[in-house]
Amino acid sequence: MCPSQPNRGEQSIRNDIERVLFTEEQIARRVETLAGQIAEQYAGRELTILAVLTGSLIFLADLIRKLPLPMRLDLVSVSSYPGQATRSEGPKVTVPPAGTLRGRNVLIVDDILDSGLTLQYLLDMVAEYQPESVSSCVLLRKERPDVENRTEAEFVGFDLPDEFVVGYGLDYDHLYRNLPDICVLKKHLYQDSQ
Ligand code: XMP
Repeated sequence: MCPSQPNRGEQSIRNDIERVLFTEEQIARRVETLAGQIAEQYAGRELTILAVLTGSLIFLADLIRKLPLPMRLDLVSVSSYPGQATRSEGPKVTVPPAGTLRGRNVLIVDDILDSGLTLQYLLDMVAEYQPESVSSCVLLRKERPDVENRTEAEFVGFDLPDEFVVGYGLDYDHLYRNLPDICVLKKHLYQDSQ
């Protein structure tokens, strides 16, 4: 197989894509800038990253390797889009953080801010652990003018229109996380489930 050609498996998932919103190269540049902003904000402090599984995994791996700070990593699992749903049905923690957040400078890292329900839920949850501080970073922020007083994140990678996106860790029905770009999925693949 020629290395510059996608293999058949990749071609078949590429066929489900309507368009690419952000390429691998654009993402890499933006993640580096974001890491620089976080490093500046937390200079001289130790950071505890609380990453939200599973969608933030690839973003997290790239982001933390660009962070020149003492940092700890903890993970939380939140279910909000069970199976084939494309609108949040209300977040629930399915795996709580394993380590201590008390007295720490906690940065919540998530893949995408949509209605803001998940982020607000996590901010409330983290507050119960009595951290020194808490803030949040999302790779993507959807335009949702219909949502009033949405909870906002301090650090944001990209703004995007209100369309369902996959790739770079984001999934639909557990597929497409391995696409290196952030892409809009063809609507007919998910609109029947809405
Ligand atoms: P809310 O509405 O609570 O949603 O801000 C945040 C969580 O919902 C998931 N989400 C998406 N996942 N493509 C995805 O793969 C999307 O377009 C999308 N929009 C929201 C995501 O898990 C996020 O943490």
